[in-house]
Amino acid sequence: MAEAQNDREAREAKEDEMRLSEAEIAVHWKEEEYFHPTPKFIGQANLTDPAVLERFSEKNFPECYREYADLLTWDKYWTTTLDSSNAPFWKWFVGGKLNVSYNCIDRHLDKHANKAAILWVSEAEDDPVVALTFQELYVQVNEMAALLRDFCGLKTGDRVTIHMPMVPELPVTMLACARLGIIHSVVFGGFSGEACGARIVDSGSRVLITMDGYYRSGKVIDHKASADIAVKKAAEEGQKVDKVLIWRRFRDRAASSTPMVEGRDYVVNEELKRYAGHRIAPVSMPAEAPFFLMYTSGSTGKPKGVQHSTGGYLAYVTGASKFIQDIHTTDVYWCMADIGWITGHSFIVYGPLALAATTVMYEGVPTFPDAGRPWRIAQRLGVNIFHTSPTAIRMLRKLGPDEPKKYDLHFKCMTTVGEPIEPEAWLWYYHTVGRGKAAITDTWWLTETGGFLCSTKPAIDPMKPGSTGPPMPGIYPVIYDEHGKEIPPGSNRAGNICIRNPWPGLMQTIWGDNERFVRQYYGKYNKNKNSTDWHDWPWLAGDGALWAKDGYVRILGRIDDVINVAGHRLGTKELESACLTVPEIAEAAVVPIVDAERGRVPEVYVSLKPGVKADPEIMARVTRAIETNIGKIARPRMVRIVPDMPKTRSGKIMRRVLASISNSMDYGDITTLSNPEVVEQIRVQVQGAGPVRKKEGPEDIKRFGETT
Ligand code: WT7
Repeated sequence: MAEAQNDREAREAKEDEMRLSEAEIAVHWKEEEYFHPTPKFIGQANLTDPAVLERFSEKNFPECYREYADLLTWDKYWTTTLDSSNAPFWKWFVGGKLNVSYNCIDRHLDKHANKAAILWVSEAEDDPVVALTFQELYVQVNEMAALLRDFCGLKTGDRVTIHMPMVPELPVTMLACARLGIIHSVVFGGFSGEACGARIVDSGSRVLITMDGYYRSGKVIDHKASADIAVKKAAEEGQKVDKVLIWRRFRDRAASSTPMVEGRDYVVNEELKRYAGHRIAPVSMPAEAPFFLMYTSGSTGKPKGVQHSTGGYLAYVTGASKFIQDIHTTDVYWCMADIGWITGHSFIVYGPLALAATTVMYEGVPTFPDAGRPWRIAQRLGVNIFHTSPTAIRMLRKLGPDEPKKYDLHFKCMTTVGEPIEPEAWLWYYHTVGRGKAAITDTWWLTETGGFLCSTKPAIDPMKPGSTGPPMPGIYPVIYDEHGKEIPPGSNRAGNICIRNPWPGLMQTIWGDNERFVRQYYGKYNKNKNSTDWHDWPWLAGDGALWAKDGYVRILGRIDDVINVAGHRLGTKELESACLTVPEIAEAAVVPIVDAERGRVPEVYVSLKPGVKADPEIMARVTRAIETNIGKIARPRMVRIVPDMPKTRSGKIMRRVLASISNSMDYGDITTLSNPEVVEQIRVQVQGAGPVRKKEGPEDIKRFGETT
């Protein structure tokens, strides 16, 4: 008995340690030493001239961004670099016209027709690598564009929802949309049919493009089944989908046994045969025409369609790819993200292809069949630029700390993105993966920003583990306290980071909701809502940050009710409404808990309707409800049934208190609650009857739920 008790305590202590390791780093963060790029890297880099900062200084704004736009081929050159007359709806490169698919494909054909544009790796390790040359990409994109136009009747400005796995047909589909000026909304393949349906409704898509199946951890997932759910959900909410276009994962057979719906479902591979050899002239689009939507979670329930522009976005991601990712046409570049997130749009598809790079795509799970997989892929394809997230780095390090040493790796530069990286994980990435030779860029940005906001310029700035870099050229941040007072660099205090100026990659608006756009990003710090001077419109990023004396920014995490799971934002409210689909649940509150691999994971608190008895089956149903409404990525660590939620006198659930309890942190002042006694009950339920735990915790959790 005593032994079992000891065992349990030892296990709990270990779990605690695991859980809190990152928290301690965040709080007791010390200044890290600098690491310098190698002369070999500097010798070949695209950006080595320190005068770039002068060129992009405020006095040269906004004209400095001409340097980015000039990386593109314009059908018509623009007349006004930045039009701010309808602030904060900034317009970049006004008067200019261009086509994205032309810029990513056609213009490279002269020199690079037979160079690989995409190298695709199936999850099944015995499958051959598929190489798509620029010529082949050109042919496929044209044929697909013909199908979209002539079979689906789609035209410039229409929206199309794409729910596909990581296969080359995905960029082919996106570029075909881009060729016609059709606005694509790519939904992450791992999201559920319901989540996809909600996005179909919001974007008003009448065509859904999907694939019948794909490999995930060695199994073929029936993805067609999700399409049926998505279409049904959309119909329930008033959006009819006329056509579902289904790509085949396997050439010779269907990957799904879910039946086709007559008159609605079409196999793309079959339909395309009629368009063999068709060529579609790229539609010349105004620079400020909407290019695509990317749904992301914000602090209110519904995901929002972040709307990106054509010219500004493409210019910004092309510049960032060239100057920060250091992409040359001779590089083999692999961003191990999913195209269903903004990282994949900007840094698998559009940025690299605009530069005529070879971009690698991998279908499956990075640790399948083992943690050496990414390094085998890199060795086999000769990848020299690698791009991934802290969550993947932690996972690969945990499961295969010595795996990279077994392979012949030659990375010249490597990127990390998505969440703050702990110096320990950074050092492993640097020494073991990069062999101490690769320049690491820690790029801080958001779905909304199109491309990077802060990063070291890899051949110019030294690296500092755990900090993103200084601001990108042309980005002028400011950190404000709650009252709009500036917190200067070097003051060692954290605040809300804003960007003072607009830049070409910044989103244009929230699809269909200009008012929410203005409120969410400018509501807090706008100085004069009638002003057309950009200086009056600092853009709120929604992260807490600290600005060091040396100009490096350290990001502390989201300040709103958003949980960053494995580098991806999940909206608390969206998870909570999924919980409420279980009929027994009266109230739900979702909080982040620190997780050694995934950064943060959701933990769910629910209270039951009167008369309902607590039962493990209910907990399991809550988990299932989250998986089906959102996707497995959102699966909670734990569902806890509590007698009541801690509430303010006005009836708001105090998520901050629950988050503190879940993370063994001090929950602070609770005297303003209407039911303070319930806090102690919940604490004992979660932590046991021992003394109150008062660990220091990371800033994002301390402040979690403060804004609502
Ligand atoms: C949030 C945006 C845009 C890339 C993928 C995520 C966090 C992003 C970093 C970084 C610290 C980072 C922030 C940001 N984040 N990159 N290098 N260091 N935090 O896009 O889903 O829109 O999430 O990710 O908290 O606000 P997203």
